[in-house]
Amino acid sequence: MKYVHGYNQRENIRLQDQASTLVDLLHSDTFYEDGSEVLEAGCGVGAQTVTLACNSPDAHITSIDISSSSIVEARERIEKAGYTNVCFKQADIFNLPFEPESFDHIFVCFVLEHLEQPVEALKCLKTFLKVGGTITSIEGDHGSTYFYPDNQDSHKAIQCQVKLQKGAGGNANIGRELYPILDRAGFCVIKVSPRMVYVDSSRPQLVEGFIKNTFTAMIEGVRESSINQGLIDPKTFDDGIRGLSRTTESDGVFCYTFFKAIARRG
Ligand SMILES: C[S@@+](CC[C@H](N)C(=O)[O-])C[C@H]1O[C@@H](n2cnc3c(N)ncnc32)[C@H](O)[C@@H]1O
Repeated sequence: MKYVHGYNQRENIRLQDQASTLVDLLHSDTFYEDGSEVLEAGCGVGAQTVTLACNSPDAHITSIDISSSSIVEARERIEKAGYTNVCFKQADIFNLPFEPESFDHIFVCFVLEHLEQPVEALKCLKTFLKVGGTITSIEGDHGSTYFYPDNQDSHKAIQCQVKLQKGAGGNANIGRELYPILDRAGFCVIKVSPRMVYVDSSRPQLVEGFIKNTFTAMIEGVRESSINQGLIDPKTFDDGIRGLSRTTESDGVFCYTFFKAIARRG
């Protein structure tokens, strides 16, 4: 599978930073009832799994990922945190080893953006959801990035990530499409809520956790491939990164919007 981000150690640390910075924004309304069966599809190294397990201690969570090394890391993370309500399995969303209608709820976060066929993935997942069960999907949308001071080179650097992800079959601007793709996959009662991360210097934790360690780190991560593929020259890219870092100064402002969708199998 071609993949823009997700498999190297630096990226795993970034996903952890992102998850812990955004816990309230993304998870404050995700609680599953006691005894319910929950499937987390594409759990990666368990960055969201920890919060799912913590928020719903009496739900039974099954977390799957196509990458066996990520599953090993996720399992270690959950064991270290002391949660016993998660079981892990290496599996492909397009070929899941479960009985149809096995789950009351499905949670899928930052996965659809990497798939060539997100609607097909959602249709596959729907098979394993009980009628009336919910799917929760969270995705970002790089087109929602704006900041002060504005910087055209920063936008060009961000576009490199968008183009690379598109080249790998994904879509870094998928957040805005959650409603239509869930609809096309046959889900009903679809509710999408935009979750904006707004950062200025009065929120130092977000300056560090989101602008620096999450967003800028992600764009920095595509420097080499962007230059190698001729998408940008080194100077413009580095000036773009400096422009992003500039937004962390005392007068800087940074905005990014995630989209969280909850829908039902009718
Ligand atoms: C960006 S990571 C997100 C991980 C985690 N959900 C999070 O929010 O931190 C995307 C994950 O989707 C997994 N993935 C991609 N395609 C998959 C597939 N067909 N089946 C299962 N997992 C898949 C990748 O291995 C990767 O761990």
